Amino acid sequence: MYGNLKAELEERLGRMAAEGLLKEERVIACAQGPEIVLADGRKALNFCANNYLGLSGDERLRAAAAAAMEEWGYGLSSVRFICGTQSIHKRLEDALADYLGMEGAILFSSCFDANGGVFEPLLDEDCAIIADGLNHASIIDGVRLCKARRWIYRHADMSDAEEADPETGAVQKGLERCLKEAAGAKRRLIATDGVFSMDGDAADLNAICDLAERYDALVMVDDSHATGFVGPRGRGTWEDQLVAGRIDILSTTFGKALGGASGGCVAGRREIVEYLRQKSRPYLFSNSLAPAIAGGTLKALEIARESSELRRRLYANAGRFREGMAAAGFELRPGSHPICPVLLYDEKLASSMAAELLNEGIYAVGFSFPVVPRGMARIRVQLSAAHAAAQVDRAVESFAAVRRRLGAIG
Ligand SMILES: Cc1ncc(COP(=O)(O)O)c(C=O)c1O
Repeated sequence: MYGNLKAELEERLGRMAAEGLLKEERVIACAQGPEIVLADGRKALNFCANNYLGLSGDERLRAAAAAAMEEWGYGLSSVRFICGTQSIHKRLEDALADYLGMEGAILFSSCFDANGGVFEPLLDEDCAIIADGLNHASIIDGVRLCKARRWIYRHADMSDAEEADPETGAVQKGLERCLKEAAGAKRRLIATDGVFSMDGDAADLNAICDLAERYDALVMVDDSHATGFVGPRGRGTWEDQLVAGRIDILSTTFGKALGGASGGCVAGRREIVEYLRQKSRPYLFSNSLAPAIAGGTLKALEIARESSELRRRLYANAGRFREGMAAAGFELRPGSHPICPVLLYDEKLASSMAAELLNEGIYAVGFSFPVVPRGMARIRVQLSAAHAAAQVDRAVESFAAVRRRLGAIG
C-alpha cells in the first residue's frame, strides 16, 4: 500500500525545492552536439556534454551503428552467457583490450555496472579496498556491494599522514597510511578515478603504482574521463603517465568520448576478466549490449586510433577557453583537461550565473554543495573537439557579459 510514503515523498521533494536542490532536466530537441535546440525552441551552445571528441552526432558512428543493427539485429533478448554473445561483441572486447593495453576486456551495459560488478567477485571479507575520497559514485557503490574492509584516503593524498579536518573534525588519512593500516588483509586493492570529474584533475598514477608495488596491492583505475583523448595517443591516463603494465584493472565508459551512447567495460589481466565473466553479477544478470552500440563503439575506437586531429582540436579548444577566461579575470582550476571548472565559490552566484548564461545561449551547469564541498561552487565547462574557435570565444564573452550584469566579481 502506498500509504504514508506519498506524503513523505511530497514533503521531501518540497524541502529539496525550497533548498534549491532539485535537479531540473533540460529537454533537448535535436541530436547531441556543440549547438543544441532546447525543447522550448531556444538555441544554445552546449558546454556541458562529455562529448570530448565530438563523436556523439558523428555521421561515421551513425552509419556504423546502423550497419551493425542491420546485420546483427536490434537486440539480443538475452544475457551474454545464454545466447547474447555475437561476434561483434567479441570483436569489441578484443579491440578494447588492445586499445587499453590490457590482456582482456569484458563488456557491461554501462561503466556504472562495470564498477558495480568488479569488486565483489575479486575481494572477500578478508580483503581491503583503499579508495580515493572523491571517487565516482559508481566506484563507491561497487565497493559497498563488496564485503572487503574499506579505507578512504583524502583526495590525492599519497602520504603516510593522518590529521583531523579543521572544519569537521573527521580524521583524514593519506593513501600510504591506509595501506599500512590494511596490512593484515589477505589482499589490498587501491581504487581511483583516472581523471576526477568535478575538477578534471588526474590521479597520480605513478605514485599510486609505486605504493601498490611497495605494499603489494592491486590497482584499479576508472578512466571514463580519459579514454580516447588523454595521453599522446589518447589511450588514457595510464598512457599519459607511462604506467602501462602496472595497472591491474581499468574500467571505462563508451558514454563519453567514444560516441556517448552507453556501455562500458572492465579491461585487465586475463584471469581477472575471465573470472568476472563467471561471477560479475551485472554481467551475468543483465542484457547484452545492443549490437548498434557495439558497432558504433568499434568505429569510435577506430577513429580515435587513426587520427590525432580530434584530440588536437579538443586541447586547442580547452587551451583557448582557459586562456580567454584567465585574461577576463576568472579563476579556473588549473590544468589542461577539457573539464574546466570556473570557480565562483558562492552558491547563489553559481546558479544565477548558469541561468543567465543560458539566456545568453551558453549551456553550462553550476555545481554547489553537496556535489562539491561547501563554499566551492563553480560552473563546470566542458570543451569538445566539435566546438569551433568562435563558439569558444563566445562562451568567454558571455561569461564576462553575465558577470558585468550580475555585478559579481571585480
Ligand atoms: C568517472 C566515472 N565513472 C563511471 C561513470 C558511469 O559511466 P556510465 O554512464 O557508462 O554508467 C561516470 C559517468 O558519469 C563517470 O564520470
